[in-house]
Amino acid sequence: MSWQENTKNKMLRLQLPTDPRWVDVAKMSLADILVDHAYCEQKAASSCISLILKFPELDKLVETLTPVVAEEWDHFSRVMDQLRKRGLPFGHPRKDEYVVQLQKFVRKGGSRMQQLTEYLLMNALIEARSCERFKLLWQNLEDEELKNFYYELMVSEAAHYVNFIDLAKTYFPKDKVEARWQEWLAYEKEVLSSQEIRGDRMH
Ligand SMILES: [Fe+2]
Ligand SMILES: [Fe+2]
Repeated sequence: MSWQENTKNKMLRLQLPTDPRWVDVAKMSLADILVDHAYCEQKAASSCISLILKFPELDKLVETLTPVVAEEWDHFSRVMDQLRKRGLPFGHPRKDEYVVQLQKFVRKGGSRMQQLTEYLLMNALIEARSCERFKLLWQNLEDEELKNFYYELMVSEAAHYVNFIDLAKTYFPKDKVEARWQEWLAYEKEVLSSQEIRGDRMH
């Protein structure tokens, strides 16, 4: 199944499209966007490693996420190449307000599988939003190499998004995952609409 078929109904379930002004400001702050993007990839890899370490007994989860760690780290490395090529400096991470807000929505307590569902849905949401933003960069950047890079990443993050949703539905009842996913989507809409538009942040 192509990624378009795989995601056409699911991906568009984000409740709020990115403000079109974001890509205009992002284009003007490419150095900052690339640094922020590198850290997004690092966090994606770290987050998969942490899920594997928290749930080592879940074969399908370990099997699915192990190659994702490698993919995310490859993305990190390739963003670093883009920085180097342009003579742009790396630096310390900035506070990721978007992720901080999402983490507040993780429901504490409940069963181990409920906890897992929370983590998987949060990761799915970050993948979905990243995918949407990469699409905007692919469509709006002028640099051919970066356009192609973001197209490729958009496809890759879409597949990760599907992985996280599928894993949630593997380990927790599908109807409950669906109901909680709706709550996450609604919450993410609030988070996004309360954030100022910044060209130096991927989210
Ligand atoms: Fe990635
Ligand atoms: Fe990803």
